[in-house]
Amino acid sequence: MTEKFKWWMKTVVYQIYPRSFKDTTGNGIGDLQGVIEKLDYLQELGIETIWFSPFFKSPQADHGYDITDFCDIAPEYGSMSDFDKLLKEMHDRDMKMVLDFVLNHTSVEHPWFKESASSRDDPKRDWYIWRDGKKSGGKKPPNNWKTMTGGSAWLYYDNTDQWVYFHFLPSMIDLNYRNPEVKKTMFNVMRFWLDKGVDGFRLDILHAIYEDEQLRNDTFTWQILPSDKNTATLFRTHKYDLNLPETYDFAMELRKVMDEYEPERFLVGEVDGTVEQLKKYYGPKNNGLHMLFLFEFTSTPFNPYKYADIINRIEKNFPFPYTPTYVFGNHDRMRFISILNENVQKAKLAATMQLTLRGVPFIYYGEEIGMPNTKFKLRTSQDPIGRKFSWIPISQIKILGFSLTRDGCRTPMQWTDKFNAGFSPENCETWLRVSDSYKKINVAREIKNLGSLLNCYRRLLKIRRENIILQEGKFEFIEMKNLKKKCLAYRRIHNNQEIFIYLNFSKDFLKLDCPVKKPTLLFSTLANRVALNVNSNNNIMKLTPFEGIIFS
Ligand code: NOJ
Repeated sequence: MTEKFKWWMKTVVYQIYPRSFKDTTGNGIGDLQGVIEKLDYLQELGIETIWFSPFFKSPQADHGYDITDFCDIAPEYGSMSDFDKLLKEMHDRDMKMVLDFVLNHTSVEHPWFKESASSRDDPKRDWYIWRDGKKSGGKKPPNNWKTMTGGSAWLYYDNTDQWVYFHFLPSMIDLNYRNPEVKKTMFNVMRFWLDKGVDGFRLDILHAIYEDEQLRNDTFTWQILPSDKNTATLFRTHKYDLNLPETYDFAMELRKVMDEYEPERFLVGEVDGTVEQLKKYYGPKNNGLHMLFLFEFTSTPFNPYKYADIINRIEKNFPFPYTPTYVFGNHDRMRFISILNENVQKAKLAATMQLTLRGVPFIYYGEEIGMPNTKFKLRTSQDPIGRKFSWIPISQIKILGFSLTRDGCRTPMQWTDKFNAGFSPENCETWLRVSDSYKKINVAREIKNLGSLLNCYRRLLKIRRENIILQEGKFEFIEMKNLKKKCLAYRRIHNNQEIFIYLNFSKDFLKLDCPVKKPTLLFSTLANRVALNVNSNNNIMKLTPFEGIIFS
């Protein structure tokens, strides 16, 4: 099986939101030099691949997801030579770099769009999707499509009396991939970075690349949030604007560009869809995307039964050679530890699970120290989505049960208990307020404490790195019978060797049958546990509350 395993199938990815990682200039915004400074920290943590949220030229209306030059660096983050240095420093440490490729749209400020909007005859007119309006004088949008964030997906420009299509926010307009020049240009953007040596791309809202050519209307539904059975969102089905057959073909075209390069590099897609839809992105012969984000853990309560159900479905739907991904958080979602009510024991247990399942774990910056979600007012939110929804009464937001501004999960990294949490030099205002938790939750403090969450991640990543069974082994559940509401257990198997993972999700001491006679303990969430004590008469082992163990 070993030769079939490519490096990307067993790597560990860390996501950096560059704006919030480390500021070296004192402008309150993180930068590339800051990342270079912290590479040793990441290497010691055990990170093998880093995915960077966008740091390209942008007016920052959506903090970098609104791009004005795909092949240049935003000055607040540094320069192209900083980028080159960062890439070299990473490769020197044997780390891989993954860039965020925001191919669905550009900023309204992008010169391409400005030209396109300037007149109906502009050569770039067809780079975006312009249509006449409906009804009297064309003053109604061309159809009923809604954006991902709610509201009509069409923006009216009176200078040319036409509407232009956007799927996310009006500050970002969708490119028209039916125009071959657009495709060619964007494939060359990929080649620009691949030539420099980057190792992969994360593809932003890939499912939205194509829309129905005939602009057929979507229909009304009561559904508010998408599920894996149905992608309808905010009362609208998305039959004609998401996951079109052309988009699956496009995934294979992207793969072809990647395959021009050696050694192999990877594509991971951000796509929403049903399992059947998701599977199509991999291509009929595994000649599409290498991986997709699987997000279910980010919205599932801490419960072994529910977690087992997700893992079961992932294993059933995406067996080898598919490589599942395990994502607990990112720059769009509530911080994972806050879903766990900031319970560090639970976070350690979840990390043990995430880093021992079959597939690629994605760790969001700060997750390893337990940075919590921070509350921000919607009205003054930096995140445009927060401002968009600031009219919703607080009581309604509480019912929804999630955060409407993404500021809360994007606060500056907490390095120390000093001013600005060591994120930026003293005496400057950070772009987003540092979480009040920084005095207690910070890297400097946790590094010194063997029992900290940070050291738990470090120990886990080391075990994973040292054990091929955890990287390549098959996955099998161990039946828990009457304990399945309290405990989750599985084995990884490789060349007839096994590693066992037992996770106690309850606040009770558990007595369990040990599957081997003389187990060797490889890891426990309890940093000071040195051995697994098994009763020699009945082969029973004991787990303390919320303890997770790995043994062979
Ligand atoms: C998904 C990204 O994760 C999100 O942060 C961004 O706002 C939208 N795509 C638009 O690019």
